[in-house]
Amino acid sequence: MGIPACVRPSVPLAPYTTFGIGGPAKWLAEPVDTAGLLDSLAFAAEQDARVLMLGGGSNLLISDEQIDALVLHLSPKGEFGRIQQDESNPLVWTIGAAVPLQQAVGETARHGIAGLEHLAGIPGTIGGAIAMNCGTADQGIGSVVEQARVFSLHGESVIMSRDQLVFGYRRSNIRGMVATEFILTLTGEEAPNVVVSRMRDQRERKRASQPMTIPSCGCIFKNPPGDSAGALIDASGCKGMRINDAEVSSIHANFIVNQGHATCRDVAALACQVRDAVTAETGIVLEPEVVFWGPPDEFGCFGDHKNVDN
Ligand code: EPU
Repeated sequence: MGIPACVRPSVPLAPYTTFGIGGPAKWLAEPVDTAGLLDSLAFAAEQDARVLMLGGGSNLLISDEQIDALVLHLSPKGEFGRIQQDESNPLVWTIGAAVPLQQAVGETARHGIAGLEHLAGIPGTIGGAIAMNCGTADQGIGSVVEQARVFSLHGESVIMSRDQLVFGYRRSNIRGMVATEFILTLTGEEAPNVVVSRMRDQRERKRASQPMTIPSCGCIFKNPPGDSAGALIDASGCKGMRINDAEVSSIHANFIVNQGHATCRDVAALACQVRDAVTAETGIVLEPEVVFWGPPDEFGCFGDHKNVDN
């Protein structure tokens, strides 16, 4: 087959990430509908290319080298960008994987539906949020996911119901799968202004405690059981540590921010220094939360970590 209309070769990924870091994908597919998705998967199979799913690029550190894969970025402009409330049950919402998480948070809140407002201020798409089970330290979005539509690499569509979905702290069995649509059952109906005001409060709390206006990939490390990675990194004296333009945020120590032209290697090297400093100070070995794309040697001490998708 020829190259499908929605697939482009050698597309820089940095603009697709909140970090602003990342080299070109060998191919980038941006289908607007299921037909385009199936063409993209068939093309990847023909090229013997692996498929990597890109959501909002907000929890990713991508190598500056070429990513040897077909990167699949579902376009929000068609069916993957739909969001719809069920006509008979107001708590049930069907949401395309490419819908920005904040659009879903805002729309459900404005309808007086509670259940997503604690996710206010978190970047990314619904698909990425569910794949990483994003949320606060103890409450992830997974708890409201009823069903997921996923495609196998051969293009078969499968419905995964609640009992087949597995969610843990910042992980799920959806990660790496081609998920296109979700059904969420939210938690309750209230006066819209009440839910909206909880959403705004949450956004304000986040704004006050996290560096939301400087490029980053969110928290770099997971919280160790019963502890806070940010507090441990702060207490280990790492705030302000810097390698070139990668810097440990002075607002929240579990964020590495890109002060201009940080590279993947700068961020990875700094994260390794942070991990080592915390281990030296406390004996605790922090686990990365961020997902890495690229050759393992780009990621320093994290090269052999399970979060590396190569
Ligand atoms: N703290 C410090 N110094 C810092 C940062 C935090 O002392 O530099 C202290 C805070 O004062 C607080 C404690 O550490 O006493 C916990 O901090 P915070 O409330 O900011 O929560 P967190 O555990 O650091 C978690 C999630 C965030 C989520 C927030 C708010 C993880 C790794 N982080 O942060 O998620 O936004 O709760 O709900 O689970 C993410 O996963 O990317 C992320 C940003």
